[in-house]
Amino acid sequence: MKNKKIFIACDTTSIKKVKKIIRETQSNKIKVGYKFGLEFFNSKKGRSFISKIKNKIIFADLKLFDIPNTCVSAIKAVKDLKINYLTIHVSTGLKALKEAKKVCGKTKLIGVTTLTSLDNKSLKEIGYNKSLNKLVEHQAKLAARANLDALVCSPHEIKYVKKRFKKEIITPGIRLNSKNNDQKRVTTPKKAFQNGSDWIVIGRSITSGNIKNNFKKLLMNIYK
Ligand code: C5P
Repeated sequence: MKNKKIFIACDTTSIKKVKKIIRETQSNKIKVGYKFGLEFFNSKKGRSFISKIKNKIIFADLKLFDIPNTCVSAIKAVKDLKINYLTIHVSTGLKALKEAKKVCGKTKLIGVTTLTSLDNKSLKEIGYNKSLNKLVEHQAKLAARANLDALVCSPHEIKYVKKRFKKEIITPGIRLNSKNNDQKRVTTPKKAFQNGSDWIVIGRSITSGNIKNNFKKLLMNIYK
């Protein structure tokens, strides 16, 4: 379990809350990065705040899902932020993935496989006829063909992803307690690393309630 790394999901519109999250999750035991999704990015002062963050690993979870030209333009539009990681849905298609990768420069392009809020029943509803594990494995193959830098999947599919994709694996769907919220495919931090995650993404289990205590619990879960 070497090289364990954590992205904290800063899902809020409040700069004050983000500052607190960053302040209270500093650690010399583990590498911590910060993930900003559409909520913070689209908030009034969110983008400008991100542009001023110094010496932190920044993950822009924009989950691009559009035609190739629009994905490429969106990536160019955030170039000034010098983001470390950026997400695009693998289902955007091979052409969009390849073109997005071409314009990413130093930003690592992460493919999102199948959202951790979905299960086999939800996939059927949408119209997919592959099982979840098979679908994620297929998406991992596509991400490898597009030469993406990292993949997001749930901790349950890592073994299928690893067969097809040899770079970084990032897993949301992490819980310190039994509160799943809207997530369907979840596990503990320790188990996610044991399964082979390079990074775990953790939001509400840290950012709801007492952040300092939650972060301590997280470290205890990983290192006990
Ligand atoms: O609060 P919680 O730990 O469930 O947050 C998980 C974070 O990871 C959210 O910001 C969510 O948008 C993101 N995410 C996810 N599933 C994916 C991709 C990203 O939950 N497949």
